[in-house]
Amino acid sequence: MAFIAGRWPLDPDLPTVVFIHGSGGSSVMWRAQVEVLAEDMNTIALDLPGHGASGGRGSDDVSDYAASVQGFFLDLEVPRPIPCGLSLGGAVVLQLLLEDGGRYEGAVLINTGARLRVMPLIFEIIERDYQAYVVGSRSMSISPKTDPRRIEPLLESMAECPPEVTLGDFRACDAFDVMERLGEISVPVLVLTATDDRLTPVKYGEYLVKHIPNSRLVRIDDAGHLSPMEKPEDVTRAIRDFVLSL
Ligand code: COA
Repeated sequence: MAFIAGRWPLDPDLPTVVFIHGSGGSSVMWRAQVEVLAEDMNTIALDLPGHGASGGRGSDDVSDYAASVQGFFLDLEVPRPIPCGLSLGGAVVLQLLLEDGGRYEGAVLINTGARLRVMPLIFEIIERDYQAYVVGSRSMSISPKTDPRRIEPLLESMAECPPEVTLGDFRACDAFDVMERLGEISVPVLVLTATDDRLTPVKYGEYLVKHIPNSRLVRIDDAGHLSPMEKPEDVTRAIRDFVLSL
C-alpha cells in the first residue's frame, strides 16, 4: 500500500497516527495533519488498495479494507498505531477496533458513523457521469463557508480514481452497520463531527460517543464533511491533544 509519512524512519518509541481516507479519496486529504503532527509523533496517511498511488483492487466490503490495513501495520511494524479515519476510513477504524481492539492505544473517528447508508442519488450520479459526481462533491462535501480551493487536491485525486472503485467504496459504506456493537470497544476514542457536514451529520458522531464507553466528542464549527482540509488547524489540534493525553 502506498503512503505518505511526516517523518522517516518512524521513531519506534512514539505513537503513529495512521490516517485513512474516505470513498474515492487518497492520502492527499491529510497533508496538513501528516506534516504538522510529525513534530510530536509519527504520522502516516495511506492510500487504500486501488486508490491514489496504491496498487491492488478496491473492495465493496469494509472488512477487506480493514484486513489490508492490519497487514500494513504488520508489514511495516508500525510503532504503537493509532488509526484515524474519515467516513469510509472511520468505518475501517471501527472494524479494526471490533476485530482487534487490544492492539491499539486509541483511535480517532472523523465525520463517520456506526451505520453509513448512502443516498441512491450518489450511486446514480457515479454510474451516469463520474466527473459530474466529482464536481458535485465540491458543494456536497464542504461547508458553504469553506473556500472550495481548499479541497482541490482531493478532487483531483478523486477524478483519477476509477469510478468502479468509488462505487465499491460507497457500497461498502451502505452495507456497514455496527450500531449494536459499539459497546464492545474499550480503547479511548476521539470522535470529531463538523457542524455543516451533510453526508455524516453531527447526529452520527453523537451516537458514537453515546455508545462507545471511553469516548469524547469534539465539534468542528463551520466545516463540512472534509473538515481536515477545511479547518486543518482545528482538526490537527484536537488530534494532537487527544494523542498526547493517552
Ligand atoms: N448514527 C446515528 N443514527 C443513524 C445513523 C448513524 N450512523 N445512521 C442512520 N441513523 C438514523 C437516521 O438518522 C434515521 O433516524 P430517524 O428515523 O430518527 O430519522 C434512522 O437511523 C434510519 O436511517 P437510515 O438507516 O440512514 O435509513 P433511511 O432509509 O432513513 O435513510 C438515507 C437513508 C441514505 C437517505 C440516509 O441514510 C442519508 O441521508 N444518509 C446521509 C447521506 C449520505 O449518502 N451519506 C453518505 C455516507 S458515506
